[in-house]
Amino acid sequence: MPVLVAAGAEFEVSRPFAGLTIGFRLHIEPKTAVLIEALVAGGAQIIAMGNEGTTQFGTVEVLTQDATTAGSCEILDRPGDGPSETAANLRRIAATKPDLVLDNGAELIAACLAGGHRPVGATEETTSGAFRLREEHAGNVSFPVIVINDSPLKSIVENKHGVGESVVDTVVRVTNMSLHKKRIAVFGYGWCGRGIALYARQRGADVVVVEIDPIKALEAAMDGFDVAGTSQVTDTADVVITATGRPDVVNLATIQQLPDGALLVNAGHDDNEIDIRGLELVAPGSELSPSLKRHDLPSGAEIFSIADGRIVNLAAVGGNGNPIEAMDLGLTLQARSLAALVDTGSDLAAGPQPVPDVINDNVATAMLQSMGQMGRTYRT
Ligand SMILES: NC(=O)c1ccc[n+]([C@@H]2O[C@H](COP(=O)([O-])OP(=O)(O)OC[C@H]3O[C@@H](n4cnc5c(N)ncnc54)[C@H](O)[C@@H]3O)[C@@H](O)[C@H]2O)c1
Repeated sequence: MPVLVAAGAEFEVSRPFAGLTIGFRLHIEPKTAVLIEALVAGGAQIIAMGNEGTTQFGTVEVLTQDATTAGSCEILDRPGDGPSETAANLRRIAATKPDLVLDNGAELIAACLAGGHRPVGATEETTSGAFRLREEHAGNVSFPVIVINDSPLKSIVENKHGVGESVVDTVVRVTNMSLHKKRIAVFGYGWCGRGIALYARQRGADVVVVEIDPIKALEAAMDGFDVAGTSQVTDTADVVITATGRPDVVNLATIQQLPDGALLVNAGHDDNEIDIRGLELVAPGSELSPSLKRHDLPSGAEIFSIADGRIVNLAAVGGNGNPIEAMDLGLTLQARSLAALVDTGSDLAAGPQPVPDVINDNVATAMLQSMGQMGRTYRT
């Protein structure tokens, strides 16, 4: 991750986080560990937790034992943690009154708001978290929150190409199934959906897009995909993949109409886009492999689900998350936005706002250089 490592080396000299605590809530895995190392190099003290079910405990072991991070990084997750431990950990981090907050779903920011704590500023990684800040918490956030997801760089490199590639790759690896001529219904043609549709097509699938925004539906059609309503895909979809950031997009009634053998996959942040809980009540899943379940519907049809409807490219066993280059870029945006909050947080307006242009330009240039594309000359 050369772009992030270079930012860390710069922080080691400038020490933007010296004497500051960062409340850190992001999937804990090898790539986010590099972000923690960069922040610690900049002088931060970190108290961290992952999202439920996505923490890799080998990474926790490295971070809490490695000499460079051990004394500066506490990670609260324990194997088997469920919703009550997650809620307690969020409250525990908020109670330490961190100077800065790095969030992934806006729940740590919500815990700070509930506890009356006002950090200097925060960053929010996801679309889902940005929705919460702009809807549930609208008008209540009294400190600046830089929404990393709103960066055009993250949208292109991470949400479109990173998620697209890794979701499709995870589905193929978990199922050992070829996608050629499979009919895949992608719900949502936002940044993630665009990438999933693109990479599924590259693997030979027939992709149909279901999208409620007519402009994005038109874009999908112009990009060469079939576009349909939910009821038009239910009797033909071999695979359903959701990427909307919204709950109940594929409900039980829809699941029950799917053809025999259909596979349910969620790429969105929360596990409520597909009603797997409702499906479990009528057709409890039997485990075929650690991330793959078969549900025998009363109608006799078999429906398959991956990772219980959780974010597939992270929660499925063997899911490595986004490719390392995409994470290099996205996590550098995180690191540099946190440093900008220390520098300019008091000048920024309260509430959600975009990544400053100067950071986008800096990180785009650094990534182009790391790809060997900057300053290259072309022969005529
Ligand atoms: N899997 C990952 O690694 C990963 C990475 C980044 C983001 N995400 C998550 O993926 C989800 C989508 O993110 P995004 O950046 O593409 O968001 P986005 O806002 O760009 O796109 C979401 C799209 O879904 C559409 N939509 C909403 N409700 C719908 C419905 N009922 N039926 C069909 N379409 C509907 C919207 O119109 C929009 O076009 C979010 O939950 C986000 O947090 C996942």
